[in-house]
Amino acid sequence: MAHAIQATHLRIQDIVDATPFLKWAGGKNQIFDQLLPFFPNKFENYFEAFVGSGAVFFNLRRLHGHFPASLTDRNAELINCYKAIRDELAKLIPNLESHKRNHDEKRYYRIREQDPSGLSSVERAARFIYLNKTCYNGLYRVNRSGKFNVPIGSYSNPSVFDEDNLAAVSAVLNGVKLRVADFSAVLDSAKSNDFVYFDPPYYTEDNGFTGYAVSASGAASFGADEHRQLRNVVDELSDRGCHVVVSNSDTDYVRRLYREYKKNTVKARRYINCNGAGRHQVSELVITNE
Ligand SMILES: C[S@@+](CC[C@H](N)C(=O)[O-])C[C@H]1O[C@@H](n2cnc3c(N)ncnc32)[C@H](O)[C@@H]1O
Repeated sequence: MAHAIQATHLRIQDIVDATPFLKWAGGKNQIFDQLLPFFPNKFENYFEAFVGSGAVFFNLRRLHGHFPASLTDRNAELINCYKAIRDELAKLIPNLESHKRNHDEKRYYRIREQDPSGLSSVERAARFIYLNKTCYNGLYRVNRSGKFNVPIGSYSNPSVFDEDNLAAVSAVLNGVKLRVADFSAVLDSAKSNDFVYFDPPYYTEDNGFTGYAVSASGAASFGADEHRQLRNVVDELSDRGCHVVVSNSDTDYVRRLYREYKKNTVKARRYINCNGAGRHQVSELVITNE
């Protein structure tokens, strides 16, 4: 229990302000306070397998100070971004400054057309952050051949990045394990007393197929089969003695899938129609194994 943490302690000055540096569909920043009561007060290692914008991780670090953590997501561009902020921030900032200074429609589409595989890791990260902050609604969607295809958003002066926050994020990520992986990879290392938080693309009645377009939430390619596989992973982690928390939509299907588990509800404000016209309060499930 060398790394066990208590609920109230360590506030390390240079990391308290780290907040998500991306806009991300389904981001948990706004409802973190509602999730917190369902999280364990004490754990050894933290695993987050659908890290997205990292809202839960950053908030936990703000509250708890340092704890060993492993953050994974299957979006390779996203994980590259985390690594560049952690390891190459001094090179990343001038790239971001250049994007910000020269932002206009022509540049947006020129950068969007770039093939990330031909860029350095720093250039890829700067491209990803720039497109995320200037595209329509912060969406992440790729076409059949894996090319980012979201149109430009209508921001007159997009902020693109906050240097102080990126410095705080870099400090917080020091020593954190970052990996491109499917969620099932947590089974490689999670053990008794570890805390595993899963925030998958939510189940909806119409995403039970595997599509090619991937939104920020990954929704189109995460259907009923993947939700069943995730529940099997949760079963295995529970048998090992891990603390597991899963967020998902409050639907009959998800309630049935996790019938053996405790289910609580929280209220989130989400866009519920595809054109983003309305924000509504929806009930979401927080599933726990204890
Ligand atoms: C709802 S978002 C997570 C949001 C995050 N909690 C936040 O606060 O920003 C879901 C994430 O799951 C990732 N994802 C989709 N399918 C995955 C899979 N099979 N394995 C790992 N990550 C996956 C997506 O890339 C996306 O970042």
